[in-house]
Amino acid sequence: MTNLKELVGRKAADYVENGMIVGLGTGSTAYYFVDELAVRMKKGLNIVGVTTSKATEEQAKQLGIPLKSIDEVESIDVTVDGSDEVNPRFNGIKGGGGALLFEKIVASRSKRVIWIVDQSKCVDTLGAFPLPVEVVKYGSTHLLHYFETKGYQPVLRHKDNQVYVTDDGNYIIDLHLKEIVDEYALAKELDSLTGVVEHGLFLDLTQLVLVGTEQGVQIKEHV
Ligand code: A5P
Repeated sequence: MTNLKELVGRKAADYVENGMIVGLGTGSTAYYFVDELAVRMKKGLNIVGVTTSKATEEQAKQLGIPLKSIDEVESIDVTVDGSDEVNPRFNGIKGGGGALLFEKIVASRSKRVIWIVDQSKCVDTLGAFPLPVEVVKYGSTHLLHYFETKGYQPVLRHKDNQVYVTDDGNYIIDLHLKEIVDEYALAKELDSLTGVVEHGLFLDLTQLVLVGTEQGVQIKEHV
């Protein structure tokens, strides 16, 4: 069976040109994109990366990819990242790997954002995948209770029997919503809550989605 994450991750490197500043996404699909960039750099490709997590930073450094911090660049030419879900409007849920905050900052500073997904991530309606909400530690129990009263089925994220802490030092509350009827209304509500740093609804940020299928890579362009 084809590794669809690898197929689509390596294909995305076709969208990177010499001299570009490239946003390097996070996760098991973006891993292959970053790896492929290093392969192409050995053949002469010349780029500078901006990473979206400590994990990707480590990978890029090991591969010898030159990096700049987000604050050292004016903008990013193209960012390639994975997604946990994507709907027909190219809106999605990200943050399964916990990197949503830096991923959204990098995406919002990018001239072009490309998502790389296997076909299992394409959905009609968002929400089957738990929606990550990154919150400041201080007062996070109150937010958890608020989400409970709203019926959002919140779960404070844990990893290795410890409360999970993001690269920026915050907690993540995953909302088990099952179905998000209006992602814009929900994003507005989450944006308005004090103590919420960021959430995993990525709306109107992505122009191109590459979908890995058993038949090859399907290219979906936003119209
Ligand atoms: C990281 O926080 C996430 O947003 C990932 O980009 C997303 O979870 C996709 O990850 P995979 O490519 O590992 O499925």
